[in-house]
Amino acid sequence: MKVLVIGKGGREHALVWKLAQSPRVERVYCAPGNAGTALDAVNVPIDVNDFDYLIRFAKKENIGLTVVGPEDPLANGIVDAFQSHGLRIFGPSKAAAQIEGSKVFSKKLMRHADVPTSEFRVFDHPEPARKYIESREYPVVVKADGLAAGKGVIVCNTTEEAFEAVTRIMVREEFGRTAGRQIVVEKKLEGEELSVLALVAGRTIIPLAPSQDHKRAFDGDTGPNTGGMGAYSPAPLGTPALLDDIETNALVPTVHAMKRARIPFRGILYAGVIVTNQGPRILEYNCRLGDPETQPVLMRLKTDLCDLLEATIDDRLAEFTDNHVEWDPRPAVCVVIASGGYPGTYAKGKMIQGLDEAAKVPDVKVFHAGTKLEPGGMIITDGGRVLGVTALGDTLAEAKARAYEAAGKISFPGAFYRKDIADKAIAKGV
Ligand code: GLY
Repeated sequence: MKVLVIGKGGREHALVWKLAQSPRVERVYCAPGNAGTALDAVNVPIDVNDFDYLIRFAKKENIGLTVVGPEDPLANGIVDAFQSHGLRIFGPSKAAAQIEGSKVFSKKLMRHADVPTSEFRVFDHPEPARKYIESREYPVVVKADGLAAGKGVIVCNTTEEAFEAVTRIMVREEFGRTAGRQIVVEKKLEGEELSVLALVAGRTIIPLAPSQDHKRAFDGDTGPNTGGMGAYSPAPLGTPALLDDIETNALVPTVHAMKRARIPFRGILYAGVIVTNQGPRILEYNCRLGDPETQPVLMRLKTDLCDLLEATIDDRLAEFTDNHVEWDPRPAVCVVIASGGYPGTYAKGKMIQGLDEAAKVPDVKVFHAGTKLEPGGMIITDGGRVLGVTALGDTLAEAKARAYEAAGKISFPGAFYRKDIADKAIAKGV
């Protein structure tokens, strides 16, 4: 079978790498891909939102399975478009992708399904939102309703910051007119975060190994929010009891409520969880795999990913319940190397050195994100998050040491990375 992966980040490189290991996969294409996917697959220069072109390509190449990485094409209806041409594609429909595409939809669904989440109100005008914020005795988070390239969630420590967030989203429309038409204002919660990614088809839910992202740019969880500067899996915070709680009280009622509302979810449901003193709360749902969580999670997955994705599409996912998904018992750590200035402005086109040396470190895979393969074979930077150096080890500390040993061999002007990925779990003695 030929497989097409859509996207160009580290998550997509990990998907390409894993799918290529399936004995049933003859060739993997990636649209548009990066330098890493160019080496592990065949890149095709098609934009993720150019559905007509992607469909023409999938038909011409007789693609048996298309796997969508990012949220944007899912929210824009790529799955419906492919299916209308009889093409097999992994991911939720446009209607179901609203669980990530609309914060208002998602929070209302959680309230309706009685899913533990932070208390909130929805506003479509700035003035009532300001009045509500003023009346709160706690810090709030202000969220633009629509997709905003990961920037539409503003965590506010003071009333003034929250007012500014309302102005940025609704008045200045910094995240676009549609994304800022409505906002969610919710209570800011305290606790450690956990990512629970689950395969979902019909009423069957199979949570993958739990992971933890590191969203802030700098060590000690300081600096601005980013797309994610590193991740590890399994996250010991996700104990079997906690995962059971999340599945029973969040994933199951959410999936059932969507089915009852005739918008069944099929694909990856990603619960962004915060573990508070009162128990786990759902911060948000995403309709796809996380980046960089996918890199360590797929590094540990032993079951054929192609089988899992096809079983999801074909309503056979129940075959994998009761521990039929196999994992490497060793933990994996992913360290993201970013361009200087990220998540703000940064330069592109810097020559990357040391990739071959890094790849020689045992049990390491260097997943590419913002990279480009130049004619002649030189690899240059092409984005904010450039590489995700991912390693397995007998313990988290060993996986971390290996990831950093490999990351230390890579260089490009302005490169930076956090030095404390997985430290919180390691400090707890895991
Ligand atoms: N790691 C955060 C995300 O994928 O949204």
